[in-house]
Amino acid sequence: MNDPGSTVPAATPRLPPDANGLAEAAALLRAGELVAFPTETVYGLGADATDPAAVARIFAAKDRPRFNPLIAHVADADAALADGAFDEWALRLAEAFWPGPLTLVVPARPKSRVCDLARAGLPSVALRVPAHPLAQALLVAVGRPVAAPSANRSGRVSPTRAGHVLDDLAGRIAAVLDGGDTPVGVESTVVACLGGPPRLLRPGGITRAALRAVLGHDPAAPEAADSDRPAGPGMLASHYAPRARVRLDAVRIEPGEAVLLFGSGCPEGLEQARAALNLSPAGDAGEAAARLFGALRELDASGADTIAVAPIPSEGLGEAIRDRLARAAAPR
Ligand code: TXA
Ligand code: MG
Repeated sequence: MNDPGSTVPAATPRLPPDANGLAEAAALLRAGELVAFPTETVYGLGADATDPAAVARIFAAKDRPRFNPLIAHVADADAALADGAFDEWALRLAEAFWPGPLTLVVPARPKSRVCDLARAGLPSVALRVPAHPLAQALLVAVGRPVAAPSANRSGRVSPTRAGHVLDDLAGRIAAVLDGGDTPVGVESTVVACLGGPPRLLRPGGITRAALRAVLGHDPAAPEAADSDRPAGPGMLASHYAPRARVRLDAVRIEPGEAVLLFGSGCPEGLEQARAALNLSPAGDAGEAAARLFGALRELDASGADTIAVAPIPSEGLGEAIRDRLARAAAPR
């Protein structure tokens, strides 16, 4: 890695999900190093959010454009309230969904510890209290906000197990805390509460229906004023992309394609597929979300030029699944 300030080992070690592994992960983060860790959604690539040099290493390791702001992860809502100014809506959403797969974009407090680089210079800050027990324990041990985008190379498929992280970032980061498979499988829902009505910036692990139940109405669509920069990486048209081309709502399979199935339907021509995986034979969107990114990586490894995706309904977590697949299918 071309970062003389860092002491990244050539082979990135996997730290065990126990007291020793947590202590080492926390010490590395406090020393300004990069450590990937599991959250309930996907693995995050963590750095001390208060340290601009540490945050700069995230952008370098991922090849991430610097105009894309990062989420600051904290152990509890009290810590989040110290960094962001929460209006009534934000308080209500935090109360309902934290700890959990919700990120709130709120105005940054003047004394916010989250450094300017992590916020990409924006007057707002993205805050999240993850529910995963290892993420919780790590954040308590670090005692500072931890900036963490998904632990993949920029534009690629997000990692849901430690092996995925190493496939993309081995030799570029100090360690990965190995907590096995992440249970939710798609990233957090991002909601902006910046004075006007709450806006849904990215569908994710908290469904639109769950937001509606708390807000009393649907969240609003994003608008340009939510950010004075180009859209964040999760909002770029092409993102979450495997090597293979992705073809959506496929009802007929062409010979040699890899196939991503959902439910009990069997598309025409399936017998000519190079490889096929079913996200959820029972048609369960939660199960499908948990398997989505791993399945994309696996089908990509089949060597097929195209991954054909069967129709997936947009109810529940289906909205986040379809969002990620649409970005994977977008022109590059
Ligand atoms: O589940 C997740 O959210 C995972 C885990 C690791 O927590 N993290 C994640 O981070 O997905 P990332 O960097 O891949 O996505 C963060 C999203 C981006 O779309 C970014 O543009 C948006 O949050 N975001 C961050 N700060 C923002 C801000 N101040 N205003 C608007 N959007 C912001
Ligand atoms: Mg990401």
